[in-house]
Amino acid sequence: MFFYLIGLFYLPNLSATLTEAPVGVSFEFFAYPAYVTDVASTQQCLENFKDLTGAWPPIRIGGTTQDRATYDASSSAAVTYTVAAAGDAPDSLTFGPPFVALAADYDGDVTLGLNRRLDNISNTIAAAKLAVEEMDNLYAIELGNEPTFYTSTDPIADGASWTAAADYASQVKWQDEVFGNLSIENIASAGVYFGTSPESIVGLTAVEEDANDYVKDYCSHNYPQSASTADLETLMGHSDIASEIEEFAAEVAAATAMGKEHVFGETNSATGGGGGISPTFGAGLWILDYVMQTLIMGTKSLYFHQGTIGNCQYCWWGRYDMGSPYFGAYFATMALANADQVAPLDSGDTAFAAYAIYKSGAPVRVLLYNSEYYTSGTRSTQAFILSGLTSSTVTAKRLTASYATSRVDEGDSPTVAGQYFGNGNCTLMGDEVTETTTVSSGKATFTVGASEALLIEL
Ligand SMILES: *[C@@H]1O[C@H](CO)[C@@H](O)[C@H](O)[C@H]1NC(C)=O
Ligand SMILES: *[C@@H]1O[C@H](CO)[C@@H](O)[C@H](O)[C@H]1NC(C)=O
Ligand SMILES: *[C@@H]1O[C@H](CO)[C@@H](O)[C@H](O)[C@H]1NC(C)=O
Repeated sequence: MFFYLIGLFYLPNLSATLTEAPVGVSFEFFAYPAYVTDVASTQQCLENFKDLTGAWPPIRIGGTTQDRATYDASSSAAVTYTVAAAGDAPDSLTFGPPFVALAADYDGDVTLGLNRRLDNISNTIAAAKLAVEEMDNLYAIELGNEPTFYTSTDPIADGASWTAAADYASQVKWQDEVFGNLSIENIASAGVYFGTSPESIVGLTAVEEDANDYVKDYCSHNYPQSASTADLETLMGHSDIASEIEEFAAEVAAATAMGKEHVFGETNSATGGGGGISPTFGAGLWILDYVMQTLIMGTKSLYFHQGTIGNCQYCWWGRYDMGSPYFGAYFATMALANADQVAPLDSGDTAFAAYAIYKSGAPVRVLLYNSEYYTSGTRSTQAFILSGLTSSTVTAKRLTASYATSRVDEGDSPTVAGQYFGNGNCTLMGDEVTETTTVSSGKATFTVGASEALLIEL
C-alpha cells in the first residue's frame, strides 16, 4: 500500500484567479438553433452548472460549419441548409437575424464564430455588426475556424498555398477591417488554431502589433485523440494528460505576454467520431483532470464541443440519452464552484492526482483522482492521506461508475454523489450521498477506486 501525504500549508503552483464558470460549452454552428429549440436537455444541462456556481456557463457557437456559413440579412430562418442524411453536417448554409436573436437569448457569455474561409468580408462585417448591436451577452467573435486546415483551394487563400505566415497576415488584416470598421476593441477570439503547428498563437502574437487591441482572447482547439489512435487509458491517465497539454504552455504564455486571456475555444476527447472512447465515463474523468491541469497552466476557460445532434460520440447530452462525459464536467464545475484558485498537490507523474481548491487564499476543498484504468475484475483502490486538516470531520462526494468504459446509452450511468441526470431532460435525480470521514491529529485517509474521483469539503 502506498500513501500520499499532503500538507495543506504548502502552497505550490497556485493557478491564476479563476473565473466564475471556467467550464463552458461549444455548439457546432449549424446545430445551435436546434440545440436550443429542439433538444429539451440543453437548457437544463447548462442550468445545472449555473445551480452550482451561480453563473451560466459560457458558450461558443462555431466550428467547421461557421466557415461554411453565409449571413443572409433577409432570411427569416435561423439557419437554412440541406443535408443528404440526418446525421450529416451541411457543406453550405445561410443564417439569418433569428440566429443572432437566439444567441442573444442565452443568459451567459457567448463567443460567436463567423466566417473567414469564404473570403466574404463584407458579409462577415454585416453579421458582426448585428451581433454587436443585438447581443448584450457577446463576449468575443471569431474570424474563421481552424485556419490550420485551410488549403489553397479555399477562397481566402486566393489560389496561393496557405502557410502560417499567410494566416497571420490574413487574421490581422481581418481584425483591422472587421473590428476597425465597427470601432470595437477587445472583441476578437484570435488564432482559433487546431493544436500548435504549423500555425500557433506564439507565431500570431509575434505579428499582431496594434491589432492586439482588437483581441479579447487567443484561442486554441485541442482534441487529444483521433478515432484511429483512440485509447481511453491514455486519454484519462493523469500523467498522460500532463504530457498531452504541454505543447499549449507556450501558447498560454504568448497570450499572457500580450495582456490577453487564453481559452480552449473548442475541445473534446477525440476527432473523427471518437473511436468508441468518447461516450464513456473515462472521457468524463479526462474532462475533470484536464480542466484542472489546463487552468493551472493558465488557460481561462474551456468550451467542450457539442456536434451534430444524433451523430456525436463526445456530446454531453442528446435528445434521448445523457452522455457519461457530462458527469466529469459537472464534477469539475462542482469542485471549482465559488473558488478562486486551484493548485496541484502531486508531482503529476503518476496515475494519482490531488488538487487543493482555494477561496480567499485558504483551502476549501481537495479533489482526489485515481486515474488507473478499470474495466473488469477486482477494482484496485488507492489510499490518500491528507494532513494539516483543521476540522474534526470532513465530508466528501464521489464521482464513480461501474467501469471506465461505462456508457449511459448502454444502461450504465455514472453517479455523482449518488445522483444522476434524467435521460431526455438532464434533471438531477436520486438522493445525494455524502461520505463523512473522521479527522485524527489533523489527518484523514480517503480511499479512491481505480477510475474514480472524490471531492472533499474541508
Ligand atoms: C465598413 O463596412 C461596410 C460594409 O461592408 C462598408 O460599406 C464600409 O465602407 C466599411 N467601412 C470601413 C471604415 O471600412
Ligand atoms: C457575400 O455576401 C453578400 C452579402 O453580404 C452576398 O450578397 C454575396 O453573394 C456573398 N458572396 C459570395 C461569393 O457568396
Ligand atoms: C426526466 O427523465 C427521467 C428519465 O428519462 C424521468 O424519469 C423523469 O421523470 C424526468 N423528469 C422530469 C422533470 O421530466
